[in-house]
Amino acid sequence: MKPNTVLSFLTIVTATLFSPVASEPSLLLEKRAVWAPAVLYPHSGTVWNIGDQHSVVWDTSTAPSYISNPTGTIMLQRDSTAVNITLASGFSILDGRTEVNVPSVLPGATYYIVLVGTSGNRSPDFTIDDA
Ligand SMILES: *[C@@H]1O[C@H](CO)[C@@H](O)[C@H](O)[C@H]1NC(C)=O
Repeated sequence: MKPNTVLSFLTIVTATLFSPVASEPSLLLEKRAVWAPAVLYPHSGTVWNIGDQHSVVWDTSTAPSYISNPTGTIMLQRDSTAVNITLASGFSILDGRTEVNVPSVLPGATYYIVLVGTSGNRSPDFTIDDA
């Protein structure tokens, strides 16, 4: 190789090493940090009665291989109100489901679940009725 050829070869190698493709691992880490599993149950049309026990179910099929904080919390909230009740905590976000008891709240059709782990995600609105 002539010196000029060697130089342009090195330029290409260097450009490849520091191109956006080479920095993909940090993009993956960012993706992992905001993993928000979709809540599968309760869903739109679900009706829970006060005092009943139900499993909250979420999708773990998209889970990254590494999660910095896999501990989950399940909050019950209601649109346009200050309702924010912890239904479960201390479970692994990789479990995919956890049992909760339906607390004594005002009946209504605008309740939703927020699953907080590495990130947070909310279910569609569902109904809580009197038993
Ligand atoms: C609900 O309560 C949790 C834990 O007490 C808190 O971290 C969160 O910010 C609250 N969310 C809202 C919307 O008030």
